[in-house]
Amino acid sequence: MSDQKTKAGMDRRSFLQSTAALGAGLAMVPNVLTRAAGGGDDINIALLGAGAQGQVLMNAILKIPNIRFKAVCDIWEAYNQRRVSRLLKRYGHENNTYVDYKEMLDKEKDNIDAVVIATPDFWHAEHAIACMEAGLHVYCEKEMSNDLAKAKQMVEAQKKTGKLLQIGHQRRSNPRYIHCYDKLINQADILGRVTTVNGQWNRGAREPLGYPTKAVIPADVLGKYGFESMEQFRNWRWYKKLGGGPIVDLGSHQIDIYSWFLGATPRSVIASGGTDYYDSNTHEWYDTVMAIYEFETKKGVVRAFYQVLTTNSSQGYFETFMGDQGTLQISESAARGAVYREQAAPEWDKWVKLGFINEPKKEEEKAEAGAVLDVRETLAPPAYEIPVSMEGMPYHQPHLANFFNAVRGKEELNCPAEVGYETAVMVLKVNEAVEAQRRLEFGESEFHV
Ligand SMILES: NC(=O)c1ccc[n+]([C@@H]2O[C@H](COP(=O)([O-])OP(=O)(O)OC[C@H]3O[C@@H](n4cnc5c(N)ncnc54)[C@H](O)[C@@H]3O)[C@@H](O)[C@H]2O)c1
Repeated sequence: MSDQKTKAGMDRRSFLQSTAALGAGLAMVPNVLTRAAGGGDDINIALLGAGAQGQVLMNAILKIPNIRFKAVCDIWEAYNQRRVSRLLKRYGHENNTYVDYKEMLDKEKDNIDAVVIATPDFWHAEHAIACMEAGLHVYCEKEMSNDLAKAKQMVEAQKKTGKLLQIGHQRRSNPRYIHCYDKLINQADILGRVTTVNGQWNRGAREPLGYPTKAVIPADVLGKYGFESMEQFRNWRWYKKLGGGPIVDLGSHQIDIYSWFLGATPRSVIASGGTDYYDSNTHEWYDTVMAIYEFETKKGVVRAFYQVLTTNSSQGYFETFMGDQGTLQISESAARGAVYREQAAPEWDKWVKLGFINEPKKEEEKAEAGAVLDVRETLAPPAYEIPVSMEGMPYHQPHLANFFNAVRGKEELNCPAEVGYETAVMVLKVNEAVEAQRRLEFGESEFHV
């Protein structure tokens, strides 16, 4: 996918857009774009939302060549905005600062190519749509929106404007996940007939987020941007009008992998959840959720369990795909992930030779050979390693790089608006199912705009 819209005037941005369409021809174009250091591939951006995740994205972007920050917009002027703007300047990115995104777009739209959005979920639709309508490409954090109708409007705006809209499900660009999908699942079909999926994000109990008393946002400013208090502003993800709660915040990353790896969207979901631990006045969304989806895949039905806990961190976070030939466990956490062969499955030597998987570690083989099999328990099978890692790269870097390369017309987006929308449909329905206390069906048309 690349930008189809052309402009008569050859300002810097339209020049980049038109050269993006040339793809490989770009190297032949004289480098008249460069105002800052770097080559003709320079992309100028603004950061809209400079909080915890905005800063994570900024750090990853600083490692990607030829991206220049030009503006930072954040309503927390005395804290996040100031901190990020100063930091960027220290790294040589001169930038203008804004509280209101409308003023930012007004003043900057002709100087920038794209906006990276990391504001709270309930702002995503308004921000992303305005940016695309201003002629800018958008990288927008997940969840696309906490409101499906608004997520739909984002897809429609993307189609109308022809701008790129990447949604921040960063595992879609993670080389380890891509390897598992391309090589293990598609090429080798190493798991055989997948019947069950199991995943979790278990996180320990946490105190509500605080704020420095010197940096309180005036009540009228908070109110203008949809927050009732500093406490609510800091802990927006727990409030029904502002976020989607843990199942959306954490679960959507992993449930996104369920549909990607299974090549299907679910036909139903049942779920149990509640605010069992925290005060429901400050934690409106459920602190604990357990959900079971039913997927109809090409090979048959798959039952997929997912749980999110916010009171206990045991075993952390991962996704496990279980088939009649083997099991794949994968996680964004670099320390975790392996493939396990069912005893009855054919040997995997050819996949080892092809470099799809690595041999299990020697100690495990020895342990297996010397082990006395306890008839009451199945022996843990040897773990074949996944031979691809992020090699110390920040988790979000490949997804951002994919976005910037798509802006240059050199790659397709790994998580375009339609894919982000499918995932939003899947996860937002879990909250509905908890409330409804019954199984909810998905209509096939629900996943499409
Ligand atoms: N992909 C991931 O791994 C990942 C991880 C964490 C968060 N996120 C997503 O990133 C987004 C931000 O989350 P966070 O944890 O950084 O939240 P945060 O509260 O730390 O930061 C949000 C920032 O947005 C600013 N803001 C709020 N409303 C604004 C507005 N109308 N205009 C301009 N600025 C505004 C706030 O002042 C704050 O600095 C959310 O959508 C979240 O779901 C993604």
